[in-house]
Amino acid sequence: MTLAPEHSAPDTDFDELISRPFESQLHEYDYEVTEIDGTPPADLTGTLFRIGPGKFEVGTTVLRTMFDADGMVSRFILDGSSVRFTNRYVRTPQFRDGLQQGPMRRRGITTNAPGIFGNLRAPANTANTNIVSLAGEMLALWEGGPPHRLDPDTLETLGTNDFEGKLGYVGAFSAHPKWDPVTGEMFNFGLDVFPTPRLRCYRVSPSGQLTQINSVTLWDMGWNHDFALTEKYLVFVLDPIRPNIGQLLRGKRFDESLEYQLTNGSTKFILVPRDGSKPLIFEHDPQLHIHVTNAFQDGPDAVVEFVRYESLDFLRQSLTAALDPTPHQNPHHHLVIREWPDSHLVRFRISPTGRITEEVVSQSAKIEFPQYDWRRSTRNHDITYCAGTLERIGHYNGIFKFDHRTGAMTHCDFGTASVCEPIFVPRGVDSAQDDGWLLTVNHDLVENRSQLIVLDARDVERGPLAVAHLTHHLPIGFHGTFTRRVADPFAPLPHPDLLS
Ligand SMILES: [Fe+2]
Repeated sequence: MTLAPEHSAPDTDFDELISRPFESQLHEYDYEVTEIDGTPPADLTGTLFRIGPGKFEVGTTVLRTMFDADGMVSRFILDGSSVRFTNRYVRTPQFRDGLQQGPMRRRGITTNAPGIFGNLRAPANTANTNIVSLAGEMLALWEGGPPHRLDPDTLETLGTNDFEGKLGYVGAFSAHPKWDPVTGEMFNFGLDVFPTPRLRCYRVSPSGQLTQINSVTLWDMGWNHDFALTEKYLVFVLDPIRPNIGQLLRGKRFDESLEYQLTNGSTKFILVPRDGSKPLIFEHDPQLHIHVTNAFQDGPDAVVEFVRYESLDFLRQSLTAALDPTPHQNPHHHLVIREWPDSHLVRFRISPTGRITEEVVSQSAKIEFPQYDWRRSTRNHDITYCAGTLERIGHYNGIFKFDHRTGAMTHCDFGTASVCEPIFVPRGVDSAQDDGWLLTVNHDLVENRSQLIVLDARDVERGPLAVAHLTHHLPIGFHGTFTRRVADPFAPLPHPDLLS
C-alpha cells in the first residue's frame, strides 16, 4: 500500500542525516529480502515483531514529537533459509483520520489539535510503543489506553482489547508487561491519572483472562513508564516528575504540564505484593529513569535493575528540544534530540522494612532499552544488553553488553546509524544464558536504508553474523517481541479500504 509518494532528501549534510529516523515511512511493504550479508543461523527460526512511530504527520498537521506518531509494525519472518519483511500501520482512529486531508482532530501528547475542543480530552491512542504476544494474537500497546489486537499472520487490526471492560476508568494498559516464566502469566499495570492518580496492577492468564490484583492511589503519583516483576512483588520506581492534571484537562500540552521536583522531591519505590496484600511504599533520593531491566528476590529483599540517567534534567531538556520553534528546511528537524545524557545500570535493593541500598553495575555510557534473557524474568540475570552510543550523534548507534559476573562492557558500533533495542533469542529451550543471538534493526543513515542485524550474543564485538538489507528506511523504533512461531508468509494481507 502507498499512502503518498516517498520524498527523497535534498542533501546529505549531517543535520539532515540525523533527522532521517524521523522521516515518515509512507509505504506498506511485503517482500522477501534478497540482499543478505553473511548467513542467518539455520536454527534461528521465528518471527520478530517491532513497533514504533511510523508517520509524523496526521493529515496536514506535522507532529511535534515521535511520541504522537502513528504506530507501525515491522515484521521479519525467519524460516531458517529466508527473511521476509512486512510492515503495516495499526488502524487506529488517528491513523484513519490521517488518511484524510485537513488538520488532526484529536490532541496528541505533545501536539495540540487546532482550536479548543480537540484538546479537552485524552490524547489519541497511537498504538506505537510495544507489541507483545497474548493468547495467539499480537497486542500493540500504548500506555494511556487499551491495546489494539493484531492478527500475527496478516497484521490486520482486529479492534481494541479492554479485557471485558476490566481495565480502569482511563483504560490504561502499560506498554511494558512482564511475564512469570514459571506460570506463563503476564503482569502489567495501568496508570490512571484521572480522576485520582492510581496504579492499577493486573495479572493476565496465558489464555488472556485479566484480573486486577491491586490498586495503589497516590495523590502525588508521578509519570511512570515501566516496572519489573519478582516472584513476590510488582516493583515500581516512581520518579518526581508529575503531570499537572488540572492543566492537562484545560488543554495544555503534556510536556508543558510536567512538574519537576528534582532537588527537593523523592523517588518512590513501591512493592506491590502479587497476592493482593498491602503495598509497601518507600521514599529515596530523586532518580531519573525510563526503563527497568528486571527484578528478583534475594531472600526477603527485592532487587531491581534499571538505567539511571546522570542528568536529572534530561527529560525536561529532551522535551524542550522537541519544542524548539526554530524554522528549518527539514520539517522534522525539531524532533531530533541532539545529545542523550550519560547513564549507567544500577541495582537497588529494597528490604521490606524500607532499607534501600544502591549498587552501580555498569560503566557510564549513553545507554537505554535494557534487555536480558527473558527466561530469567523474576530471577537474577547475569547479562544486560542495551542500545547505546559512545558518540554525540543524537542517536544510539551501537549494541552494548554488560556481563555482571565480570563487570566487562563490550559493544558493537554501527557508525552513522540509528539502532533499536536488542532482543535476545536463546539458541534452544535449555541453552545457557548468553548462548543465543541478538536481533536488532539498524538504520544506516548514509544509505537511508534499514537492516535486520543478527549478532552472536556471546561475542558482540565480532560484529553481525548476518545483515538483511531492506530496500528502504524504517523510522525510529521503540520495542518488540520475538516469537518462536513462524508467521505464515503467504497469509493474505487486508486492503486498508476494507478497514475503514
Ligand atoms: Fe518503553
